[in-house]
Amino acid sequence: MSTFVRRLLGAAALDASVYEEVEADQAATTQALAVVLLSSAAAGIGAQELGETSPASVALFSTIALIAWMGWAFVTYEIGVRLLPEPETRSDPGELLRTIGFATAPGLLRIFALLPGARVPVFALTAVWMLVAMILAVRQALDYKSTGRAIGVCALGWVLSIVFAFVLGLLFGPSLADARQRQTGGPTPALINPSLYGRDNFEFFCAPCHGLQGRGDGPIAAALKTPPADLTKLATKNGGVYPRQQVEEFVTNGRPVPAHGTTAMPVWGPTFRSLEPSDALVKQRIANVVQYVESLQLK
Ligand code: HEC
Repeated sequence: MSTFVRRLLGAAALDASVYEEVEADQAATTQALAVVLLSSAAAGIGAQELGETSPASVALFSTIALIAWMGWAFVTYEIGVRLLPEPETRSDPGELLRTIGFATAPGLLRIFALLPGARVPVFALTAVWMLVAMILAVRQALDYKSTGRAIGVCALGWVLSIVFAFVLGLLFGPSLADARQRQTGGPTPALINPSLYGRDNFEFFCAPCHGLQGRGDGPIAAALKTPPADLTKLATKNGGVYPRQQVEEFVTNGRPVPAHGTTAMPVWGPTFRSLEPSDALVKQRIANVVQYVESLQLK
């Protein structure tokens, strides 16, 4: 077995002598770096949905895992060396980085988070496992006699790095949703209602302005300069006949010749088309909404 593999397994098995060994061996720095990178890559792969992986999102999650680890390492070093040193503590960044680098060995198992239903248990288990390994590594590298002190340093660093990762997630989350949208070729579900039913679409896209009953009293109506039309009177205004053609035309393309500038009503043809690649579906969606509006007419 190569030294690397033996150290990797030993570090994962929480063998203190392995941490002792890599602390002393300056040549182990590259190995420690490799462990960190592999472990981050495993996290990036493990964070994917099976069958929905994309290189971009693997790279993104791996980078987040790596940056979170670097944040953790940095914070731990600062706390361990500056805030809570023991008399014996010598601050050698190389020693600490080598030991805590190897402490990410259990994180290689994060690749199994890819299996259906395994994500939460795998990430939780490996997080605790890596924390224990980290405590061992810190105790070793900072020459702590008390394990309690190593626990304190790591726990504090852990909490801070979770906050750090959370902030990163907030920053990168939106661009991730974008990436997913580009990769599946479809919009994110929040943007388009997958249902083609007229009522569902009316409630989703029209009711905010026109109200659930179509009376023009939706929740955002008050904020509009032009009040949304009362859609229950379209038939009445047209001599008792529902002007289906006009409504369909208006909803799809807006007014043919706007009397005064543009209308305050969104034009839905292009909107739906940009969200949904199929023309037939766009037509169907609008036809169903128009039919639903007919059912709202006052008799
Ligand atoms: C952002 C608010 C808003 C949304 C969302 C909205 N409308 Fe409108 N709608 C308006 C306003 C304002 C008017 C009146 C302005 C005008 O006539 O130019 C109007 C007018 C209309 C008219 C014309 C009524 C008439 O008297 O000629 C129809 C039909 C209509 N909307 C249907 C819909 C349908 C169907 C949807 C959903 C697909 C929808 N609207 C979504 C604001 C909205």
